Amino acid sequence: MTAQAKYEYTRPWLYPKQLEAIFHTKRYGMVEASTKAGKTISCIVWIFEQAIQGKDGDNYWWVAPIYAQAKIAYRRLKRFTPVHLYKANESELTITLPNGAVIWFKGADNPDSLYGEDVKAAVGDEASRWKDEAFHALRSTLTATRGMLRLIGNVKGKKNFFYQMCRRAESGTQDMEYHVITAYDAVAGGVLQLEEVEDAKRQLPEQVFNELYLCKPSDDGGNPFGIAAIRACIAPLSNKPVAAWGIDLAKSYDWTVAIGLDDEGRVAKFERWQSPWQETKRRIKAMVGNTPALIDSTGVGDPVLEDIQEGSQGNFEGFKFSSASKQQLMEGLAVAIQSQKVEYPEGHIVTELEQFEYEYTRTGVKYSAPQGMHDDCVCALALAVSKMSVPKTQMRIRSL
Ligand SMILES: Nc1ncnc2c1ncn2[C@@H]1O[C@H](COP(=O)(O)OP(=O)(O)O)[C@@H](O)[C@H]1O
Ligand SMILES: [Mg+2]
Repeated sequence: MTAQAKYEYTRPWLYPKQLEAIFHTKRYGMVEASTKAGKTISCIVWIFEQAIQGKDGDNYWWVAPIYAQAKIAYRRLKRFTPVHLYKANESELTITLPNGAVIWFKGADNPDSLYGEDVKAAVGDEASRWKDEAFHALRSTLTATRGMLRLIGNVKGKKNFFYQMCRRAESGTQDMEYHVITAYDAVAGGVLQLEEVEDAKRQLPEQVFNELYLCKPSDDGGNPFGIAAIRACIAPLSNKPVAAWGIDLAKSYDWTVAIGLDDEGRVAKFERWQSPWQETKRRIKAMVGNTPALIDSTGVGDPVLEDIQEGSQGNFEGFKFSSASKQQLMEGLAVAIQSQKVEYPEGHIVTELEQFEYEYTRTGVKYSAPQGMHDDCVCALALAVSKMSVPKTQMRIRSL
């Protein structure tokens, strides 16, 4: 491509709030927005516009919480740009424009990759899900070049750098602009259906909806149970017999956890171990006996459950985890915790409950432990609670 080549660019249609929030001239722009409000798409357009105004060798960064998400944005930008207008490097995840400017796609999960030179402008997507170190790295990079920055994300509690930056921007710091786009703004903008928002409102716990759709923080940092509610259920182990078991089987690197609740919903038995499958099966059979048990039968759990069921009295039921079934299971646990229908001792269970979080993905709300942490205790507890709350008649039908 020659330097003389001329291109005409028309910005894709964006609704007024998207334009206002992103396309201003302030150096720093912070946007707290609803999920599916069109944050990512408007910033893809913005970074592209920044880059087409750049020159040979200028760098532009797109930073997502993890590398895999950066890849999605990379593909979206490629779809939006005519093929003859860029050179893509799949392994480096870069797009080079005819003027020689390069757009890089990076993951905030690797803060060391966020130090660089000549970064003219950057977008931080889903910034409330970043580690603080990643922010420090990116900001130092932009400080040297006086680069522009747009940070966008959902509200996710108050204990993150993005939340604090937004508060600074909101209070009117020089060079910074703050905007909020709620789900209702996105409905008014024509990119989100009102029914979808109302459906989410009916289905999600209130604080989840408030954060994801209304941009209002909960004090619990994206914890679906509520920290105060979790703590209110702490009690010593019960010494009554177990009425229902919930068992989460260890997959590649985690733990097998078995939790037994008494007939009042108090944890009476709590076991957590790692061992070969034969030993695990033997241990579960001996421990559970003829008591009703709900066992994780996802993937490798399926044949394990079959072996355990052999010769049993039909008291072992399988549960297959999918994002939909896990969401339902966890919402059941949230209800039990919030209405104090379950009690557990201090220790692993409480730690995991407190760390547990929800995240919005393209397929819905995902409930899990933060990266690198475990949620086996939470899963076992949720399974036990679910087993407890199934009425006897329904239980018989389910085990037929
Ligand atoms: N201005 C727009 N024009 C057309 N579609 C849009 C617009 N803004 C958002 N969308 C659509 O809405 C959906 C969500 O947009 P996205 O940018 O992924 O939202 P967010 O990052 O806020 O979750 C996508 O399917 C996107 O194509
Ligand atoms: Mg997005």
